[in-house]
Amino acid sequence: MKNYLQDMKRRYLLILFFGLTISLYAPGQSANQLYLIYCTTCHGQNMEGGRATTLIKTKWQHGGSLDSLIKTISNGIPNTQMAKFEGVLTAKQIEDIAAYIRKSQKKTVPGKKP
Ligand code: HEC
Repeated sequence: MKNYLQDMKRRYLLILFFGLTISLYAPGQSANQLYLIYCTTCHGQNMEGGRATTLIKTKWQHGGSLDSLIKTISNGIPNTQMAKFEGVLTAKQIEDIAAYIRKSQKKTVPGKKP
């Protein structure tokens, strides 16, 4: 019986340890993960576009500044499939994604010369 209890205790500690490790190394979802979950289907895995416009470009229909991007993502674009993400994502997550799109402008679009 004593052995059994000790065994259980050890297992419990092990589970606790791994649980803690995982939660420490996954502090929320990164902008990249959020993009992959919420935006890829229309804007492409590398923002190259697909069902919707590319997100790597210089001529934005609704503005390419951080503020404009936050606005577009938050409010969506009426009469298009671009839904409003306010309420789906937090303000912080939307800002993170907008910043991530801005940062990604330096990447090269596959098949295109930089
Ligand atoms: C269901 C499809 C769909 C999804 C999912 C989607 N979008 Fe869009 N998005 C569109 C469409 C449609 C447009 C309008 C432009 C066009 O016709 O391609 C658009 C436009 C935009 C624009 C404006 C582009 C410009 O030129 O000004 C931004 C920025 C944008 N989307 C970001 C995002 C982000 C970030 C996500 C994920 C959080 C996302 N979209 C998810 C369909 C989608």
